[in-house]
Amino acid sequence: MTLLDDAKAVRKNAYAPYSNFKVGAAIRASSGAVYVGCNVENVAYPEGTCAEAGAIAAMIAAGDTTIAEVAVIADSPSPVPPCGGCRQKLAEFGAADVFVTMATTDGASETVRIADLLPGAFGAGHMG
Ligand code: THU
Repeated sequence: MTLLDDAKAVRKNAYAPYSNFKVGAAIRASSGAVYVGCNVENVAYPEGTCAEAGAIAAMIAAGDTTIAEVAVIADSPSPVPPCGGCRQKLAEFGAADVFVTMATTDGASETVRIADLLPGAFGAGHMG
């Protein structure tokens, strides 16, 4: 099973009654363990959480802190990119050269690096 397969499988559990846009994400940590997440919406819309955020939370809760690879999938016309907030969250735990595969349920995919998603990222170094 590939990391994308894991993302595809967890996508089925997404709770997205408001957008009807289900997203699945899978993270392989540096330990080799895989963590998955799906979007979880709320009737108070801003309280919803993204698939990537769920996978990151699962990783941290399990004791891993370094992202080695990411896969995200949705039923979108083109490979689904992480939102701005999730780009910053991914950059917190993944190095600039970590690969992020973005995919559609129709089989299209594109792989980029975290640095491509968040050029000029704000980092701890900016705080002096
Ligand atoms: N969403 C994600 O979970 N990840 C992304 O990369 C893009 C957007 C979710 C948030 C919301 O539940 C729905 O997709 C529509 O924005």
